[in-house]
Amino acid sequence: MIKRIGILTSGGDAPGMNAAIRAAVLTAAAHNIDVIGFRHGFNGLLEDDSQTLLPQHVQHIIQQGGTIIKSARCKALHTDAGARQAADTLHRLQLDALLIIGGDGSFRGALAIAPYYRGQIIGVPGTIDNDVDGTDFTIGFATAIDTALDAIDKIRDTADAFERIFLVELMGRHSGYIALSAGIAAGAEQIICPEFGALQANALKTLITPIQRAQLLRGKSSYIMVVAENSYPGGTTALAEALSSALGIECRACILGHIQRGGSPVGADRILATKLGAFAVEQLVAGAHLMMAGEINQQALLYPLAQTGERKKQIDPFLVRWQQQIASD
Ligand code: F6P
Repeated sequence: MIKRIGILTSGGDAPGMNAAIRAAVLTAAAHNIDVIGFRHGFNGLLEDDSQTLLPQHVQHIIQQGGTIIKSARCKALHTDAGARQAADTLHRLQLDALLIIGGDGSFRGALAIAPYYRGQIIGVPGTIDNDVDGTDFTIGFATAIDTALDAIDKIRDTADAFERIFLVELMGRHSGYIALSAGIAAGAEQIICPEFGALQANALKTLITPIQRAQLLRGKSSYIMVVAENSYPGGTTALAEALSSALGIECRACILGHIQRGGSPVGADRILATKLGAFAVEQLVAGAHLMMAGEINQQALLYPLAQTGERKKQIDPFLVRWQQQIASD
């Protein structure tokens, strides 16, 4: 019988985390379950920094970006002492379960606590990167795409005016999900993702040839290359400089950065977050343990927490093939 659950948001924050907290708190209240929110991710467990979360605390937060209980990364959790300490806090506060909203790194943190904790553990996928296996989409991804699109559309205006080449760097750590999706939706001429293989300095030719061909066919015009972070050894600014000198044309770099993590969640993220936050609590009541609440083909389902980061989630092979084809035509 679950009477009290702990909840925390961990790793890179994502728009929609508040919506997931809200849904979990409201669902818990409907089951007469108390909710304790830990502040600053797993650090809240180690430092015993928590607050009671009642339905009135989660009113009108569905539209807010960020997370009302804050987020952080926590290295100490990955030590034996840290994991034991986290479990001690959970036992002392008599929590029957822990709900973690975060990415696969946060789920690894949860798995580190598991051997020392007598309660249940469940994860809800929240990261803009959409790199968690076992769910079609993670909370925050849809908003990040729209934010990136808004920026790229604006860059297109100035790129058009000057008939310039722009390299726009998008986030995603080691995944090209954001770059591919936003690049496709923005009509980018080229997209560079880690999935296409590491880009070495001597691979510049493969990038230059399509630009020269496009200029030959269309004349001078704007050209946007969306680059996933970590694609080029020296970074996107260095890549723009290398292209500038190789082409003899000025190329500009724009690093979008953390703007992609902020903002009011779009409808799709609010709905996904609400569904998964509520489903996670219902599944805890039903006895779920060491699972992630995900959604595949619009169906909420459980997926083993340990497998969420095991395989690299594949970016859409159809869009990859199509993009590479039009970039080289
Ligand atoms: O995982 C989310 C993410 O925004 C990645 O896309 C990015 O690589 C990373 O976090 C940035 O982390 P930080 O905010 O610690 O710089």
